[in-house]
Amino acid sequence: MAIPKHIAIVMDGNGRWAQARGEPRTAGHRAGIEPVRMCIRECAERGVEALTLFAFSSENWRRPETEVTTLMSLFVEMLDREVEELHAKAVRLRIIGNRQRLSVRLQQRIAAAELRTVGNTGLRLQVAVSYGGRWDIVEAARAIARECASGALRADEIDEDMLGERMQLAGLPDPDLFIRTGGEVRVSNFLLWNIAYAELHFSDVLWPDFQVNELEAALGDFDRRQRRFGAVQTQGTPGRRT
Ligand code: IPE
Ligand code: IPE
Ligand code: MG
Repeated sequence: MAIPKHIAIVMDGNGRWAQARGEPRTAGHRAGIEPVRMCIRECAERGVEALTLFAFSSENWRRPETEVTTLMSLFVEMLDREVEELHAKAVRLRIIGNRQRLSVRLQQRIAAAELRTVGNTGLRLQVAVSYGGRWDIVEAARAIARECASGALRADEIDEDMLGERMQLAGLPDPDLFIRTGGEVRVSNFLLWNIAYAELHFSDVLWPDFQVNELEAALGDFDRRQRRFGAVQTQGTPGRRT
């Protein structure tokens, strides 16, 4: 079975899950923690190299202040509570996104958690918080522009790899499987640059209900895809293995 090297997940549907139970939306965010744990465990066990989870987008700042505040508190709580468990599993954690918009308290927890797991060689786990795909591209463009202005780089030397090396997922293979739960069939400004050739899998299941059988369905779907990357399928080189 073809196992993706890098899985990216848009964890959507928490609010609707809670509302269907007559609970506040934030109860859905809390219920979304268990599927996160499951995915980390399953990916590590199945030899997936990298997992990138969309937890809070650059557009999610538009939500009511109480929901944003609860989500931010939940991130702090999770970092405090889960980091030792991640470390024990040899997971290397990184937070991707615009940290400057986060509270100092959260920024400190992030720095501590990343430092704690930086030497680990198991699953590479990225959690996207205050992340936007367009923001990521703009930041990389700014970094390149600064290098050009300083004379370190010439404009005609810029290529795709150079831009990629200045983006949040630098050093990681591109996601080859993109999963979105919650029934919406859109990307919502997640990893725009990096998912150019990802296989897309959309599930109607709301994120708090995402269980191992749903992940297995996505992996099975991936295994059946024929990946051609613009080329043609040639004899003896199964496209899906590339
Ligand atoms: C995803 O669930 C989590 C975040 C965006 C923080 P939602 O909160 O978007 O849940 P729905 O889509 O409203 O059900
Ligand atoms: C995408 O979900 C962001 C996360 C899951 C963190 P949204 O709920 O924000 O996306 P839209 O608004 O339905 O596009
Ligand atoms: Mg949503």
